[in-house]
Amino acid sequence: MAQVTIPELNRMKRDGQKIVVMTAYDFELARIVDRAAPEMILVGDSGGRYSLGYDDFNPVTLDEMILLTRSVSRGAKHAMVVGDLPFMTYQVTVEDAVRNAGRMMKESGADAIKLEGGEDYAPAVRAIVRAGIPVMAHMGITPMMAIGQGGYLSQDVNPLEEQIRRDALALQDAGAFSVVFTRVPPALASSLTKELQIPTLAGGGSGDDCDGQVCVMHNVFGLTVEELDQTKSIYGPLAKPIFDTAQTFISDVRAGKPVRSRRDS
Ligand code: KIV
Repeated sequence: MAQVTIPELNRMKRDGQKIVVMTAYDFELARIVDRAAPEMILVGDSGGRYSLGYDDFNPVTLDEMILLTRSVSRGAKHAMVVGDLPFMTYQVTVEDAVRNAGRMMKESGADAIKLEGGEDYAPAVRAIVRAGIPVMAHMGITPMMAIGQGGYLSQDVNPLEEQIRRDALALQDAGAFSVVFTRVPPALASSLTKELQIPTLAGGGSGDDCDGQVCVMHNVFGLTVEELDQTKSIYGPLAKPIFDTAQTFISDVRAGKPVRSRRDS
């Protein structure tokens, strides 16, 4: 299966075919997810939370994001791999933004980078795109911007619709190849999807009318320990078969049963 390209994503938008973006943060999970053939695998800064155990998405460093992204790039052969620029790696100056986007691309093997922010970040997006790096924009009540205000999923904000529209148009004009909407009111996300030339991707709380969906795997598939006590995910919970398998293995070892892998026998 050929690797997905940006022209292919644009064609999908034109033809009304849904684009699927899934997150992964390591080699084997990337290989498994890639075989299911989403168009893109996002190595989000959510990996700081779900893979590295930080309290939220912001503490993860660029070096850590590069390491996670490199392992996913090695595993994905079909999906485009998008590496997220973490907090404070592009906010101070446009030069920082280009340098750090360049590090992400060169050191991780990603096909594109993602960054969060609205029209204030259009100059950084423009400069990164001019340097030859494809940019996925991410706007709305994004995880990065909402931390410190109680977390983005608990936000009850009545966003200024005109500002959201200006943000989306500025990011498109700056050359972003796609835009993720988080907590953009569904009706607005739907009308922006018609207005914008670039694909829009619903990243939570933005309805079902975008050109595609972003799935943060641990969250959507229930790959967290909390899911063992209370299932909230619609898909999964993946935590359950892992836990059950671990329990079976432990009891087999304790019972003295043979537990070598099939390859060893
Ligand atoms: O880090 C991430 O996984 C993201 C999604 C919430 C879109 O940015």
